[in-house]
Amino acid sequence: MTRHFLNLSDAGGDAIAAMLNDAISRKTARAGKPKGTADADAPLAGHTLAMIFEKNSTRTRVSFDMAMRQLGGTSLILDGGTSQLGRGETVADTARVLSRMCDAIMIRTDDHSKIEEMAAHATVPVINGLTDLSHPCQIMADLLTVIEHGLALPGSQWAWLGDGNNVLHSIIEAAGLMKFDVRVGCPEGYEPSPLFIAEAVKFGAAITLSQDPQEVARGADVVVTDTWISMGQAHAEEKLAAMMPYQVTPELMALAKSNAKFLHCLPAHRGEEVVDAVIDGPQSLIWDEAENRIHAQKSVLLWALGRL
Ligand code: CP
Ligand code: NVA
Repeated sequence: MTRHFLNLSDAGGDAIAAMLNDAISRKTARAGKPKGTADADAPLAGHTLAMIFEKNSTRTRVSFDMAMRQLGGTSLILDGGTSQLGRGETVADTARVLSRMCDAIMIRTDDHSKIEEMAAHATVPVINGLTDLSHPCQIMADLLTVIEHGLALPGSQWAWLGDGNNVLHSIIEAAGLMKFDVRVGCPEGYEPSPLFIAEAVKFGAAITLSQDPQEVARGADVVVTDTWISMGQAHAEEKLAAMMPYQVTPELMALAKSNAKFLHCLPAHRGEEVVDAVIDGPQSLIWDEAENRIHAQKSVLLWALGRL
């Protein structure tokens, strides 16, 4: 069975825990090495990852490329504008061709059904590099980051402030699988998908929605936000105005635990979802979080290719 990573539930809690442990060991083992050199065991020597981008990216693009180098393999990029996919070749045919030429596929796209179609026709692992629905690789890095900074995931309290978007969906999914709780503060009409909530609740996570940002932040171990306008969404003044009370400020952070951690997947819109004093402040883990995209995705790649 080909292992795809379209959502965190494709792996499940035990495999996620194994990936996080592997990421910590690999990161520790290669400390101090130049970033482009391979790990001592170069487990993916001779392997190539095809990366398809139908949306912009800095972190996902660079971190997957560096991850493949560090695992001893290589990557190549197809973008929507210059590949035949951009001229209407079907996702299914693209999946079949890339499966003959490459060892794994990472795709960033809009409609989640496209990645499902890719996975249905690929005979190599397909990894979700962000869709409109979810961003599981980002949350693998987020989990790694808070663990490294001393947080025990089970029973921890996460506070999300802002738009009920793709990143939040993967956090809610992680909450069910890794046994933590999420309080979501968002304006009416911008809530996350009830399907993700129902699934996490089934696994025993407490997921609550509130329009009171103070209540959401109070006592949290982790405070998270993301852009109010995701890629592909129209820039709407009405939405920005509705989101304003959920901006992460020092006053909101002061309501969280004194050792609470601040996360943001980046890119940030400083002065919108978060102010400089928080994102550049002592509780912010954003640069570790960004670097950890490499370390977490190395373990995702190893899992998908049956090496974990
Ligand atoms: N966080 C994240 O996925 O960043 P990019 O859009 O730069 O890849
Ligand atoms: N929610 C954002 C995440 C960017 C990494 C978006 O989809 O644009």
